[in-house]
Amino acid sequence: MSNAIVFGATSGIGKKLTEMLVLDGHKVAITGRRMDLLRELKSSNSEKIIVRQNDVQNVKQTELVFKEIVSELGKVDIIIHSSGIGYENLDLDWNKEWDTIKTNVIGATQIYDLAFQLFKKQGFGHLVAISSIASLRGNRESPAYFASKAYQVNYLESLYFKAKEIKGRKVFVTDIRPGYVDTKMALGDGIFWMASLDKASKQIYSAIKRKKRRVYISKRWNLIAWVLKIVPSWLMKKVM
Ligand SMILES: NC(=O)c1ccc[n+]([C@@H]2O[C@H](COP(=O)([O-])OP(=O)(O)OC[C@H]3O[C@@H](n4cnc5c(N)ncnc54)[C@H](OP(=O)(O)O)[C@@H]3O)[C@@H](O)[C@H]2O)c1
Repeated sequence: MSNAIVFGATSGIGKKLTEMLVLDGHKVAITGRRMDLLRELKSSNSEKIIVRQNDVQNVKQTELVFKEIVSELGKVDIIIHSSGIGYENLDLDWNKEWDTIKTNVIGATQIYDLAFQLFKKQGFGHLVAISSIASLRGNRESPAYFASKAYQVNYLESLYFKAKEIKGRKVFVTDIRPGYVDTKMALGDGIFWMASLDKASKQIYSAIKRKKRRVYISKRWNLIAWVLKIVPSWLMKKVM
């Protein structure tokens, strides 16, 4: 049987991917801060789901929770990092920026590293991280969020490079870059091409199965990614 861990499984993409993994026969350990929602998810299939409350900003707790899950599952095949936050923060309120950095940078780094070290020890495993199309450029409304996503994609690329150090080439890193997906995370007024959670999760799950290196969700966001990569900053400044 294949085992998975999903960080950020209480809602949105993480919750949907948990349901798909369970349906596919995986045993899944789920985490997040909202214990009631974790319990609710477990009640849908109690034998296949393990629950652990975890705030990814608390690095000591995360390490402990990770160790507990690994010892309960024995081996882990897939680790999905879907925990994340973001704010519209035009006034650069430090508390919002710091909250974002603690969750999306510090919390994410720890989970990526714990996953990578475990997979190195096991000799196999698949790290899947939900970053964002936001990783490609800056943004005046949510600076910390966009910068944190750039950090995530570069860190993931580093781990992808590092995976070649592991014998057997059975450690994979998948970077999922959604555009807008219909969850509470979809930020801002200028929302367009919003994918339903169902459609986005199906495309993400398919990318996981194919062990894709990187994928934009939904597919049409490939076009936006291409544009974002070539538009000069002075033009972005005019339109953003
Ligand atoms: N929706 C979009 O349009 C979109 C686009 C691009 C990228 N993304 C990325 O997709 C990922 C998932 O977001 P989503 O759209 O599914 O939104 P969501 O429904 O708000 O899910 C966010 C998840 O992160 C968890 N989380 C937040 N802070 C946490 C903390 N301190 N400790 C532990 N868990 C924490 C939440 O659990 P608790 O609150 O229970 O802790 C929740 O399960 C995020 O990284 C987001 O940046 C989303």
